[in-house]
Amino acid sequence: MIEVQNVVAGYTSEVDILRGMTLQARKNEIVTLLGPNGCGKSTLLKTIVGFLTPRSGGITLDGKDVSRLPAHHKVRHCGVGFVPQTENVFSALTIRENLQVGGHYMAKADAAQRMQELCTLYPILAKKFNAPAASMSGGERQILALARALMPRPKLLLLDEPSAGLSPKVLLEVFEAIQAVRKQEGVTILMVEQNAMEALRISDRAYVLSMGTVALTGDAATLMADPQVRELYLGGRAT
Ligand SMILES: Nc1ncnc2c1ncn2[C@@H]1O[C@H](COP(=O)(O)OP(=O)(O)OP(=O)(O)O)[C@@H](O)[C@H]1O
Ligand SMILES: [Mg+2]
Repeated sequence: MIEVQNVVAGYTSEVDILRGMTLQARKNEIVTLLGPNGCGKSTLLKTIVGFLTPRSGGITLDGKDVSRLPAHHKVRHCGVGFVPQTENVFSALTIRENLQVGGHYMAKADAAQRMQELCTLYPILAKKFNAPAASMSGGERQILALARALMPRPKLLLLDEPSAGLSPKVLLEVFEAIQAVRKQEGVTILMVEQNAMEALRISDRAYVLSMGTVALTGDAATLMADPQVRELYLGGRAT
């Protein structure tokens, strides 16, 4: 579905942040990206969505080369949805308006129908439909950010730390929301996470990144079961 092949990218011409990154996600998979602060997780998502252009290497979506397409094109025409790490909802706008922003390129009737679908999938959106996003809790805001990105029915959803700053209970609610859309719509999800063990529980596979390359990859269950992997990469013991 998505293939990242030996991608080199960075913010300035002097420094490479991604230094030969290779990974894949198949249709309907949840794939988690783990790794220490600053290793390039967000940069990888920004490169896949098209805010950064690879210096070398390639990115294909369903076999089509999308390496050099800008973000607005990928979101509008290639079925890519992106939820950034921070500032991913408009606090001053209502839930309805946030969803409208997500559906900006859609025909009006289609956007309205899609809003209905998402309000059914995530009832909290219906409950607070005309309230400002600022009135939502942290977990609710993440679900709104997710729904905003889902408006144009993406086939690939990129999530940057959807559970950041959430309590363990709320984290599980957000992960349930992610699982629900995978199940219901068959979307492929590539997700950056710091909460490694919890993220692996809902993932099919994972990549552990280190200094702009892949240090380790495998099935989520295999990675979780390996004591050495847990010790070295996943922040200690499983609970
Ligand atoms: N806009 C930017 N301009 C220049 N350098 C940047 C920019 N954003 C990030 N970097 C640098 O790129 C490197 C990788 O950053 P990135 O945000 O991808 O890390 P990350 O793995 O997402 O970390 P975190 O876990 O803290 O979110 C870091 O050295 C960072 O300082
Ligand atoms: Mg990051």
